[in-house]
Amino acid sequence: MADNLNPARLTPVAVPRVETSHRRIVTPQPPPQAIPLLEELSRYEPTSMTWDQLPVVWDHAEGHSVFDAWGNRWIDFTSGIFVTNTGHAHPRVLAAMRAQLDGKLVHSYYFPTAVRAKLCRLLVEAAPAGIEKAFLLTTGSETTECALKLCRLRGQKISKTKLKMIAWTNSFHGKTMGAQTMAGRAGAKAWIGTLDPNIHHLPFPYPWDADGKLTGAERFERDMKALLASGIKAEDVAGFIMEPYQGWAALFYPKDYVEAVRRWADRHQALLCFDEVQSGFGRTGKMFAHEHFGVKADIICCGKGISSGVPLSAVLSRAEILDVDPSLNSTHSGNPLCAAAGAATLEVLKDERLAERAAGLAPKVRERLERIQKRFPEKVGHVFGHGLLWGLLLTGGKPGEWDVNLSDRVTEAAVNKGLLLIRTGVGSIKLGPPLTIAEDALMEGIDVIEEALAECLATAARP
Ligand SMILES: Cc1ncc(COP(=O)(O)O)c(C=O)c1O
Repeated sequence: MADNLNPARLTPVAVPRVETSHRRIVTPQPPPQAIPLLEELSRYEPTSMTWDQLPVVWDHAEGHSVFDAWGNRWIDFTSGIFVTNTGHAHPRVLAAMRAQLDGKLVHSYYFPTAVRAKLCRLLVEAAPAGIEKAFLLTTGSETTECALKLCRLRGQKISKTKLKMIAWTNSFHGKTMGAQTMAGRAGAKAWIGTLDPNIHHLPFPYPWDADGKLTGAERFERDMKALLASGIKAEDVAGFIMEPYQGWAALFYPKDYVEAVRRWADRHQALLCFDEVQSGFGRTGKMFAHEHFGVKADIICCGKGISSGVPLSAVLSRAEILDVDPSLNSTHSGNPLCAAAGAATLEVLKDERLAERAAGLAPKVRERLERIQKRFPEKVGHVFGHGLLWGLLLTGGKPGEWDVNLSDRVTEAAVNKGLLLIRTGVGSIKLGPPLTIAEDALMEGIDVIEEALAECLATAARP
């Protein structure tokens, strides 16, 4: 047996049987039959790949359901981490991929293909006014790296020293070097050693930070002023990169804060990039989440939900920005199989009006989650979200601290009841079901969260 196994999770635990029209739990968790596979994965993969999340062994997934091979079925509140906005294995997406395979074109380097042209057109058509071109890549991290490069290349056309990129604390932009340097978690980038001196961070405007009665715009002005006072010249700022909300908590920036960023960027010829890798493609009730702020993006980074499950990402921008770099291409740029899935995904999002559907369900979700908050006011500190993207923050010891132990236990209890949640590891419960989810399954899943929370609060915390 490899020595990186997680013994606690390798012991099947008897759990009550669950049988509803959306959930089925009929074996101990994890199922005894899953243990050899978990051991094999632990032996041949990094430990984090097997043990960061609950050991649910996926056999197949369809719509809002995930199935294992031993008769268990979960309602999926993860969308495979915000990828299957159109639902798992959407028939139109599968058919598009099948047709692409049957047509015998699965790779082209970046020689032109019809399917790539179609996808780029659909992306530009789906984007807010002002977006003119799409550059296709493979992962979300590549798109934020690309945004950094484009801001600097364009900045250097204005002045040699216009290189500075501003991001926010606690943000996430991916795990490659530039992406992780822009991301705002100090611990996560300790491995880099010497950090890029031209990447700076502003404090995220958390609602619980004590700052009197300042508006969002005033907070931005104050923090930007402090950053400039640390020795940065405004004219050297090439760009800003922000997620519309911080993923761990589904916590959006205040609208007037983002409007102030946009004004500052315009005043100083800096670009504003929105990292929509997680938030895009209808997730928050709009095609792109930054549309909630009513500001224009110079660059939009896309991934995850763009293609319903195969590796595809895109950078959207104006021609004058994307054409600044004559070397933009990549081995898998617009890979035909992924492009077929991407084009079908965009058609499904449009034809099934999935962003509108998410927006329509949002008030019911908010009302239901706020009822849970009212029932456990000492533990559910905040409910944040839009569309079908929600976060519950479980109150920890002091303001701004969250109860990680409790959120882990609630996540595990929910999974044992047939609701698949991601383990955020930071004290939040995050909801992100496919945008196609049946309304009764959505409400049933929220009931399970409430039930799991009540049970965990009734039992002592795990040491
Ligand atoms: C906001 C955001 N940006 C970038 C990324 C990185 O995407 P990828 O994992 O595809 O590299 C993620 C992934 O979770 C993300 O949520």
